[in-house]
Amino acid sequence: MRVSIILAAGEGTRMKSDTPKVLHEILGRPMLFYVLNSCKNAEIEKNLVVVGHNKEKVRGAFEADKDIDFIEQPIGDEYPYGTGFAVKNALGPINDDDTVIILNGDTPLISEYTISCFLKFHEEKGNDLTVLTADMKDPTNYGRIVRNENANVVAIVEEKDATEKQKLIREINSGIFAFKGDALKYAISKIDTNNAAGEMYVTDALKILVDENKKVGSFILRDTREILGVNSRFELANAAEILRENINKTYMLDGVGIIDPKSTYIEYGAEIDRDVMIYPNSYVDRFSVIKKGAVIKNSTIKNSTISEDVLIRSSEIEDSKVGKKTTIGPYAHLRPNSNIGENCKIGNFVEVKNSNVGDGSKMSHLAYVGDADIGSGVNIGCGVVFVNYNGRDKFRTTVGDNAFIGSNSNLVAPVEVEENGYVAAGSTITKKVFKGQLSVERAPQKNIDGWVEKKGFVK
Ligand code: UD1
Ligand code: CA
Repeated sequence: MRVSIILAAGEGTRMKSDTPKVLHEILGRPMLFYVLNSCKNAEIEKNLVVVGHNKEKVRGAFEADKDIDFIEQPIGDEYPYGTGFAVKNALGPINDDDTVIILNGDTPLISEYTISCFLKFHEEKGNDLTVLTADMKDPTNYGRIVRNENANVVAIVEEKDATEKQKLIREINSGIFAFKGDALKYAISKIDTNNAAGEMYVTDALKILVDENKKVGSFILRDTREILGVNSRFELANAAEILRENINKTYMLDGVGIIDPKSTYIEYGAEIDRDVMIYPNSYVDRFSVIKKGAVIKNSTIKNSTISEDVLIRSSEIEDSKVGKKTTIGPYAHLRPNSNIGENCKIGNFVEVKNSNVGDGSKMSHLAYVGDADIGSGVNIGCGVVFVNYNGRDKFRTTVGDNAFIGSNSNLVAPVEVEENGYVAAGSTITKKVFKGQLSVERAPQKNIDGWVEKKGFVK
């Protein structure tokens, strides 16, 4: 059986954060998610995640994932520390003939493809241990791969323990190893803490097995970006950039138009049809669905469904649905539970919350629509406010089909305007407006002759 051991028990000191390192997010998901996802897609049947520091938080973040087995690494002065000790705690479920892949939870860019090729190579060679390596332009802080005169790998030396000459080696340890179960158990039993950090290094397993004349090999990866280890927020940002590029590329190859991939953020999992166009400065989360022909410009779409041929400009849409051919923005905000029909217009500076808007209804400028049920063909004028809150409770407003709400009106909920009802501009409506009525609620206008001159205001 293929088993993974994913190390996620470290403190992540270099992140300088209260959040455990492996929970720092890239495009809406914790780093650890991506490692696990690649393992699962590479058909690894059992995934053991070693947790220690902040274990409750890490477990909590993956509570819903039933395909993970958590292993606890005890933390404290009485216990050793380090990647070797982390692995030691996970040996219980390992059988001698298993293929075990060890990965660090802070290497989020590793792909399913690389894992598959790596394991295939390891198994076909019949190795006891294979290490995944790469030539890094800047190998600083990585373990260096030491080879003998026959170019065989013979040891891994950590930066802290390396001689000046070894520090010049550019081939580094990715932290990803494949072991035969029995070889792993043997090597781990021999690992000590005699090194600069006073830790148990899993990397020592390599020399231990070489010294025992076991079959040890290496698999060199061309694309060094995949094995970028994330130890600081700076490295996190680098990894995020690469992941974003990879995700965007996948969507583009599926027919999604992305004008500027550098400023487009799509979370892994978003459902986007071909012939959707995404303009710069847009963010689409993984719960969103965007249908064919929609155009998204400079907008954020979260947990929402955007139908065919919708145009959204400079707006924020959360937990909502937008019907076909509707236009949104610029500068509109659809707050949770807004259900907008087809061919609607939600224009400049309009905020909608927890409301249903029927087909063909328009609110072109500066309105607040909260807790409303609006029919089709309705016009909501500029500056209309649905007054839904009295400071304690919220109430709903109903507006029937083809009603017209004049500019700068207030509809004080609970209230209803029936179909074809008209509200005159500037009215504050507190009572029901019946079908076909005009409702005017304003003080009568008074014009006073000669007033300006009498006051002496004439220039
Ligand atoms: C490690 C490797 C280094 C390699 C690099 C690749 C060792 C000794 N060094 O260094 O050769 O080039 O990864 O990125 O293995 N962890 C535990 N328990 C612990 C300590 C760490 O689970 O007691 C986990 C961490 O949460 C982390 C992973 O192991 O996910 C690696 O630990 P980290 O401290 O980041 O190792 P590096 O210094 O990056
Ligand atoms: Ca690391």
